[in-house]
Amino acid sequence: MIRNINHDWNYAPVPYDKTGSTAKMERVHLPHTNCELPLTYFDERVYQFVSHYVKTVTATEEEAAGRSFIIFEGVMAKADVYLNGQKLGEHWGGYTRFSFEMTGILQAGDNTLVVEVDSRELDDMPPFGFAIDYLTFGGIYRDVDLRFTGNTCIKNVFARPEQVLSEKKALRADLTLDAAEAESGAVTLTLRGDGVEASIEQEVALTAGENAVSITMSDLAGIRLWSLEDPALYELTVSYRSENCSDETVTRVGFRTAEFTDHGFFLNGERVKIRGLNRHQSFPVVGYAMPRRAQRKDAEILKCELGLNLVRTSHYPNSKYFLDRCDELGLMVFTELPGWQHVGNDIWKRHAVDSLREMILTDRNHPSIVLWGVRINESKDDHDFYLETNALAHELDPTRQTSGVRCITNSELLEDVYAMNDFCREEVIAVRDQQVVTGLDHKVPYLISEMGGHMYPTKRYDGENRSIRHTENHMMMHNTAGLDDSISGVIGWCAFDYHTHNNFGSGDKICYHGVYDMFRIPKMAAAFYRSQRDPKKYGPVIEAATNWTVGDRSQGGINPLYIFTNCDRIEVYTNDKLFGTYYPDHETFAGLPHPPCLVTDFHVVWGQRWGSAVMRGYIGDEKVIERRYAHKPMPTTLSVVPDDTAISADGIDVTRVVVKACDQAGNPMPYFFSPLSISVSGAGRLIGDSEVSLIGGVYAVWVKAGEESGEIKIHLSSPRFDDVDLTITAE
Ligand code: GAL
Repeated sequence: MIRNINHDWNYAPVPYDKTGSTAKMERVHLPHTNCELPLTYFDERVYQFVSHYVKTVTATEEEAAGRSFIIFEGVMAKADVYLNGQKLGEHWGGYTRFSFEMTGILQAGDNTLVVEVDSRELDDMPPFGFAIDYLTFGGIYRDVDLRFTGNTCIKNVFARPEQVLSEKKALRADLTLDAAEAESGAVTLTLRGDGVEASIEQEVALTAGENAVSITMSDLAGIRLWSLEDPALYELTVSYRSENCSDETVTRVGFRTAEFTDHGFFLNGERVKIRGLNRHQSFPVVGYAMPRRAQRKDAEILKCELGLNLVRTSHYPNSKYFLDRCDELGLMVFTELPGWQHVGNDIWKRHAVDSLREMILTDRNHPSIVLWGVRINESKDDHDFYLETNALAHELDPTRQTSGVRCITNSELLEDVYAMNDFCREEVIAVRDQQVVTGLDHKVPYLISEMGGHMYPTKRYDGENRSIRHTENHMMMHNTAGLDDSISGVIGWCAFDYHTHNNFGSGDKICYHGVYDMFRIPKMAAAFYRSQRDPKKYGPVIEAATNWTVGDRSQGGINPLYIFTNCDRIEVYTNDKLFGTYYPDHETFAGLPHPPCLVTDFHVVWGQRWGSAVMRGYIGDEKVIERRYAHKPMPTTLSVVPDDTAISADGIDVTRVVVKACDQAGNPMPYFFSPLSISVSGAGRLIGDSEVSLIGGVYAVWVKAGEESGEIKIHLSSPRFDDVDLTITAE
């Protein structure tokens, strides 16, 4: 039995006397950040301190009599855990799940749980010890659960689909059964989902301690593959029963093969060109401490808004909620052990290997994960260390390939897949030949794991020239890689702008490297990605690479003009007259599924009369989309759109509200910076500041549910618009 204990912790950002009172502590729920941060210009030392979390854990007689465990999904960065004054254990590393046994210490009735959380950048563990281009924040920022079992517990389940491409498939379950004492029992595996139900039972004789048991279900008929378009998932229930005890655990399974070869990447035997972005898991104000819904939303943005097929969880394992959603959506994942460029001493390496082990043991049932990163991002060669990480990954998971992300050419290849951060310089957008990078005399499985980034930081509200160039960087890389079968694909740097240390970024503590800003508002480059989606499945797209203005670009005008689209043809009208018909430029962009149209005949004389525009997109003969651009944009509507109209009244759930200052044509106004007041009342509260400025015409906030159901009332006002009221339900 699993019981979540996210609610009702006492928190103090000061040393806590383990026998002392909790009266002066703050009542909080998890996920929790030890420090809320301003958007820009802050000192990152403010969250680097030791804090304490205290919780009363109540157990029944039965729970206290059996075996019990506490499971932490993620505590930044080191945790010392005490129950009733006794130390359960300590954990180094902020990105992986860990658990401690409480048996014998947990009493029936009330128990005092104390977690001392050290959020300093301790040199002895990754990613610390040198510099890192991101902030790590602090606190118990993911869920905490209790698990109660009998004398024997199912400690780990590795569900391994086999004969995946045959009509009749098999599922092998590698189990770790932890028995308090020797006993005999029976294990049952049941696979369910989508009309399939299959079961198998096997007797087992266990010795005291950990027992490895492998059981295979074969001849499984009617199983659909997990694919990008149809990510079928099944549920595997593993139960153990003996005379004295029982335990059960459920995991999801997807049947798929995934293989990187020297001639590209294949999912279920079919070639897929990887189109991905890197994701940092940070958000404004609360850093990493975002609950389930916000984690899931990020996966939805990447798959459904951008049409990506892969995300790299740079540079550490991400939340189970994010990975679960990737499984459900058919978004592949390249995940990696925590770290950034630096490899430390032997103690540091032990912590790195522990994190790698925890990552694989925790995440290996996610069908979305197709690659393990077993090398510290962009680190130098370290033969013995990386022999060890590769061997460990292969031992814990013989079904997946390993990779290691590099920025140094000719580095030693110990992994199955060579991953290179191929950063184009400002003057050239070019993909390097893989053999120039690897220095090998033959092709190997190869992936571009980053591009763009610090080579061309771009704010959402930067001028057209810069935004276009930023977009071109992404587009050209995908185009070139699209023409080279020896490159499995490109994972751009990066999905979302992120907070960073002062030795990186724009001086305001932000790296503006995202295709979206930190609020998950798209930049121009997002239009390129969106336009690569299948119009029949995801809808038609027209996004012109312009704010439709006469003098924002150097030298004025909007020539040449990319129109990112997945339509067959575009008609451009100015002042209600057809200016021209344009077709996707398959010649220049042969490597893209949906090349942009390129308009090169739109010449503007400085000061000439400027008109409005309409762009119509056609698929076949049917007009499927129309976009309008105002010639004299004026603040017309304050558009306020919540991601959700109802959230859970659990004191934890959040939703985002996006506010856009729009012109007559409904387009956000990129240089509009007026004040915005946001007030939230009723059954929820605002995360962050209530008095802000629109940033480039847009702002977003997250609203958190209270603990009572009811209406969350949101009131917005901005000087040049009518006030807007919005209601979200907390239920
Ligand atoms: C890479 C690094 C990323 C990020 C990026 C910025 O070298 O792996 O974490 O710093 O540069 O372009």
